[in-house]
Amino acid sequence: MNYRLSDILIDEGRLHRRVKEIAEEVSREYQGKELIVVGVLKGAVLFLSDLIRELDVGVCVKIDFMAVSSYGASTKSSGVVRIVKDLDTDIKGKDVLLVEDIVDSGLTLAYLVKLLRERDPKSLKTCVLLDKPDRRQVQVPVDYRGFSIPDEFVVGYGLDYAGLWRNLPAIFVLRTEA
Ligand code: IMP
Ligand code: MG
Repeated sequence: MNYRLSDILIDEGRLHRRVKEIAEEVSREYQGKELIVVGVLKGAVLFLSDLIRELDVGVCVKIDFMAVSSYGASTKSSGVVRIVKDLDTDIKGKDVLLVEDIVDSGLTLAYLVKLLRERDPKSLKTCVLLDKPDRRQVQVPVDYRGFSIPDEFVVGYGLDYAGLWRNLPAIFVLRTEA
């Protein structure tokens, strides 16, 4: 199957405005607190780095990362989540914000939320850039959401297909060619 980039779904301007709005909400919530921002590698890297730069100085931010593998080179979730890299930080008693690129079936985020809750953080909230609500298989709490999008496979701004296109500054729809 061949793939090509199609129209821009969300351009740079909209992305940055929305990231700023989310950062304002997060800044209000965690003012005067220490917050551990956990990014899910690799997709959340661009979103996380833009988000933390917009946070108010009144929030004491630490960052950490987890890497999971769920897709391989496919556009459908296998439902199997494997931890490839765990946190370096002990999150017990800490305020944690889990940052993900996209919630699709919900399997990955649900798995990560369950795993991190077992480590007894003081609080755990989730922040996702994109949400495809039509494809949800399991319910999972999304506390901060960038955009709800239709059921299309998208790439750019951290999101990939088979490792490619993460560097694009905007979100594009990926189409298959007959
Ligand atoms: P879920 O477990 O089905 O919710 O899938 C979550 C993961 O699948 C995300 O972390 C992404 O890596 C990947 N994913 C889901 N939809 C897309 C998409 O449209 N483009 C790129 N990656 C996606
Ligand atoms: Mg991915």
